[in-house]
Amino acid sequence: MAEETAYTQAATSGKYDKTSGLLRKYDNVRRFWEDQLTSTFLRPALNKLVQRKSKLLKRIRVLDMGCGSGDGYDLIMGVNTKNPGIYDYTTAAIIPDMLNAYVGVDINEDLLRQANECYGNNPKFSFLREDLSNGFTSKINAQDPFDLYFTSYGTLSHFHDQQCVRLIADICRHSSDQAIFVGDWLGRYSYEWQDLWDNPVDEEYFMNYRISYIYPEAKQDHVDIASFPLRLLTKNEIMKIIKQAAKESGVQIKPVTLFDRSIFIGRHMDTGDYNVNCPRLRFPVNSLFEGYVRTDLESLLVDYIPKSGFDHLNNFFEMLFMSWNTLVNHTISLLGNYDVEKCAFGAIPEILPFYPEPLKEAMETMQRVVEGVGWVPWGDVRANVIEPHLGYSLRKLEIDLQPGTGVGHGLVGVFEIRK
Ligand SMILES: C[S@@+](CC[C@H](N)C(=O)[O-])C[C@H]1O[C@@H](n2cnc3c(N)ncnc32)[C@H](O)[C@@H]1O
Repeated sequence: MAEETAYTQAATSGKYDKTSGLLRKYDNVRRFWEDQLTSTFLRPALNKLVQRKSKLLKRIRVLDMGCGSGDGYDLIMGVNTKNPGIYDYTTAAIIPDMLNAYVGVDINEDLLRQANECYGNNPKFSFLREDLSNGFTSKINAQDPFDLYFTSYGTLSHFHDQQCVRLIADICRHSSDQAIFVGDWLGRYSYEWQDLWDNPVDEEYFMNYRISYIYPEAKQDHVDIASFPLRLLTKNEIMKIIKQAAKESGVQIKPVTLFDRSIFIGRHMDTGDYNVNCPRLRFPVNSLFEGYVRTDLESLLVDYIPKSGFDHLNNFFEMLFMSWNTLVNHTISLLGNYDVEKCAFGAIPEILPFYPEPLKEAMETMQRVVEGVGWVPWGDVRANVIEPHLGYSLRKLEIDLQPGTGVGHGLVGVFEIRK
C-alpha cells in the first residue's frame, strides 16, 4: 500500500514523466542550440560585467522580464567564462556565490507558480506578478538597480514599439551607472514564416502566433489551438526603438551585438503553419543531440524555395542552406569512408578552397572528430559523440554566418547602458 501511494504521488507530481529531449518546450534544440547560441553572444558583455563588479567587491543583480517559469536563470548561469581550459571544472561566468539576486517578473500566474516551485526555496530568488506593458510598475521601481536587465525567447514581441520604448527607457532610468540590457524579439524574415514576408516594412507588423508545436502532429487538428499577436521586426526597427528610448531617458545605450537565432530550426519549421515548404528540421536536430539515438542524416538535407521579389534574402538563404547541406553530406561521406579496423579513412572527401571559411572550419572539425573517435568500440560513438558534434558544427555555421538583421526565429540585441 505504502508503495502504491508513493508511486501514485510520484506519477501525479509530473516529476516522474519520461524525459526526452526530442519534444516539448525544453527540447534538445532549446538547451543545446538556442540557449548556447544566446550564451555565446552574451559571454563578452557578461565577462566584462563580472570583472567590473568583482573589482568593486559587489555581486550581480538580475531582472528577468517575462521570466515565465524562471527560464532566464539557467540560461544566464550557464554562460561560460572566457576560455575555460579542458581541465577546468567550474566554467560558469557567474558562479552562484557571485549572484546577489534574481528577480523574475511575469504577468502569468501559472508560470510564476512553476517558477516558485523550481526556485522558491532559494532566498536569492523572488518573483513578481506585474504587467510590463506600461513600463516598470512601482513594485519594480522599488527594487535596487540591477546589473542585467534580461528578456528571452521573443518576450519583447508581445509589445508595440512604443511600449518597448517606454520599457527600455524605464530600464535606463532605473539602472545604476552601467548595466547590460538584453532585448529578445522575433525576426521579420524567418524562413518559417515566408508567407508573411510581404507585409510592408513601414508598418508595425504582428503575426498571429500559434503554439501548435507543443502538440503532436496527429493531435493538432483536434485541439483548438489559441493564438496571439507577436511583433516581427528587423534590425533597423529595433535600432529605432533603442534610439527613441535613449532620447526619452537621456541615457546612452550602446549596441554590443545583434544576432539571429534559429534560422533553420525555429519551432515553426516542423509545423509548416506559415510556410508549407519548410524542411522539418527541428526533430532531426533534436535527434542529433539525443544520447543513444541514431539519426538518419539524409533527413537533415534541406531544400530552399525562393520567394520572388526578395532577391537579397533568397541569396542569403541559398548560401546558408547550401553550406548546411555541404556539411551534412561531408559527414555522411566521412562516416561511409571510415575504416574501423584501420582507424583511418579510405578516401577523404574534398573541402573546396572557395567555400565560406566557417564551412571549411566545420568540415575540417567533423573530419578530425570522426578520425579521432570513430574506432571507439563502446558507448555508441556515432550517436553519443559524432552526431552531437555535427549538431555543434551546424550551430557554428549559424553563429558565424548569421547577419543579425531579422532572418531567424529570434532577433536578439545585447546593449550596454552607460550613464
Ligand atoms: C515567449 S515567453 C518567454 C518566457 C521565458 N522567458 C522563456 O525563456 O521561455 C513570453 C513571456 O512573457 C510574458 N508576458 C507577456 N506579456 C506580458 C506582460 N504584459 N507583462 C509581463 N509579462 C508578459 C508571458 O507570460 C511569457 O511568460
